[in-house]
Amino acid sequence: MGFKEQIDLNRLPSHIAIIMDGNGRWAKKQGKLRVFGHQNGVAAVRDTVEAGAELGVKFMTLYAFSTENWNRPKLEVNALMELLINTIHKETKTLMDNNIRLNAIGDLESLPGRCHKNLLEAIKKTDANNRMTLTLALSYSARWEITHAIKNIAADVKAGKISPDHINDSLLEKYLSTAGIPDPELLIRTSGEYRISNFLLWQIAYSEFYFTSKLWPDFRREDLYEAIVNYQNRDRRFGGVNESTATGHA
Ligand code: FPP
Repeated sequence: MGFKEQIDLNRLPSHIAIIMDGNGRWAKKQGKLRVFGHQNGVAAVRDTVEAGAELGVKFMTLYAFSTENWNRPKLEVNALMELLINTIHKETKTLMDNNIRLNAIGDLESLPGRCHKNLLEAIKKTDANNRMTLTLALSYSARWEITHAIKNIAADVKAGKISPDHINDSLLEKYLSTAGIPDPELLIRTSGEYRISNFLLWQIAYSEFYFTSKLWPDFRREDLYEAIVNYQNRDRRFGGVNESTATGHA
């Protein structure tokens, strides 16, 4: 039986976050420039998002460009931005056809003008779509996001809009870029690295992590199905105990 047939559609994760890693190594293995890996990563994005939407996953968040990625060679950064602009432009129709809403989190103002403009246009165009929300993390890092949220909370306290007594988990969540999006139940990272790399640090407090050695350009829908089956076989306790499996340990 294939992985897809093993998925229990009634217990799907509503939000899957993915750290797409290994593009550079994939290209290097073939004696090509790193950019070639990013280009081939687009097919993996397309297949994974389409498969998620078809299953009924309501939210997907992809780590496409981190704050730290600005430190890569200028040639690679420029090529990645160009690829993002072109892909967003080309795939807007696919998003419309599939009823997928595009969203973005991160320091979007820091993106090159044309990339920012294309992104905002695609976000606006797909705004009424409601099958799935696809969030691209661009110029994003969780520490940036949390710092940004704290600054805005402090400003609102100063302006008398909120009192320090009102600051709690749910208030902070409203100031994060992911406000309104449920926390990911499943976080996938490709390429055999076991790190979180400054991604969604607040939101993954109770996420299940799935690591695969597949390099991102090789990742396809079957790999997504496998990750979901693996997730569904876990015992999620959120710090409590599951009566059926309790062994005496919390
Ligand atoms: C990590 O691989 C990947 C990235 C930094 C970029 C991801 C971008 C894409 C897949 C292109 C298009 C995406 C969208 C959403 C349109 P790496 O370069 O860190 O690989 P390495 O670890 O092997 O060096």
